[in-house]
Amino acid sequence: MSSHNEKLFFALQEEVSVRDKQDPETFANETKDDSTAPSLVCPTMRLRHHKIFRAVLLFAFALTCVAFAGHVEPVLGKTDGVTSILRPLSQPAQEIKETSLLVLAICGSIFAVVAGLLVYAIVRFRHRAGDELSEPPQVYGSNQIELAWTVLPILIVFVLILVTSRTVADIQNRKPPPTAVQATVIGHQWWWEIRYPELGIVTANELHVPASDRIGSRPTFLKLQSADVAHSFWVPQLSGKTDLIPNRENLMWIEPTIPGTYPGNCAEYCGTQHARMLIRVVVDSPREFEQWVREQQQPASVETNEAEGRKAFFGNSCVNCHTIAGTSAQGKFGPDLTHLMSRETLASGAATNTTDNLRLWVRDPQKIKVGCLMPNMQLTDNEVDQVVAYLQTLK
Ligand code: CUA
Repeated sequence: MSSHNEKLFFALQEEVSVRDKQDPETFANETKDDSTAPSLVCPTMRLRHHKIFRAVLLFAFALTCVAFAGHVEPVLGKTDGVTSILRPLSQPAQEIKETSLLVLAICGSIFAVVAGLLVYAIVRFRHRAGDELSEPPQVYGSNQIELAWTVLPILIVFVLILVTSRTVADIQNRKPPPTAVQATVIGHQWWWEIRYPELGIVTANELHVPASDRIGSRPTFLKLQSADVAHSFWVPQLSGKTDLIPNRENLMWIEPTIPGTYPGNCAEYCGTQHARMLIRVVVDSPREFEQWVREQQQPASVETNEAEGRKAFFGNSCVNCHTIAGTSAQGKFGPDLTHLMSRETLASGAATNTTDNLRLWVRDPQKIKVGCLMPNMQLTDNEVDQVVAYLQTLK
């Protein structure tokens, strides 16, 4: 026997002899769940209970997060309700949901079996009075069991790989039909630039797409780019998330069938106002979409009755950052304002587009969106009114 083993042997022997000499009553107390009894067992058990409780709490929290995932609403103004990943209304979101549910069912069954066996083992073989005196039967190895828990998981993982890769390939290999709408979405801190190169339209924060109907499939194919940091395009009811990465172009497509407004948001932390980088996908009927395209293709309206407002706008630094088509305002840093009033929201969904909010925004953008890159221009009340009046002509 080596000296190390020898030491271990004597230490064990000493522990056993201490136990043997113990008063029977104290010994019985140790096995009770009485927190006041002098006990060697209970603190560990309590710690274990504490850990289980914490794990259950964490699990419940995670479930709540999943249930509320995608819940977005403008900070000022009406909400658009919950945008649940569990209520998809477009491809590829529907296909993703079906795959997810199948994967969840398989993993859920495994969880139920494993947790069930674990609970059974904990209850059936729990600590009982007198257990210290005997040793449970010691079992070493079983070829059948080891074979089963090696082969079975391999088969399950193989099924999961096949199911997932079939869905991924289905979505990625979709080729745009000739009727498809092509749009480019560019992420900025903290708003979305939207371009339709084939239609000659530039807008922001509200992506209009046509609904596919029985007569024709008309998906929208998106090129995703970033002007600064990494963002992520996520409209839960239409599709999964796809990142917008600087110096890289990612692709995705959506094919909604039900007209309506679908809220989404940036799903990749991108700085202070990441949470208020909301995107709205407005799904129009094919006729409404054509009308929207025609309106957006018009040059900016030139109303002579807001000459003072025009002067205030073009006399300030607004033109350095914003474009108004057909005017000298050709800034690229902020959203295109050519048809500002056709949009339902301001500041990337942070506020609804009302006169009051627009005035608040022009006076001091930081009041609506702290840290946003549009500065307070220190305009006088009169100038604010004039600029707002001019902006409201941009229909
Ligand atoms: Cu953009 Cu987060």
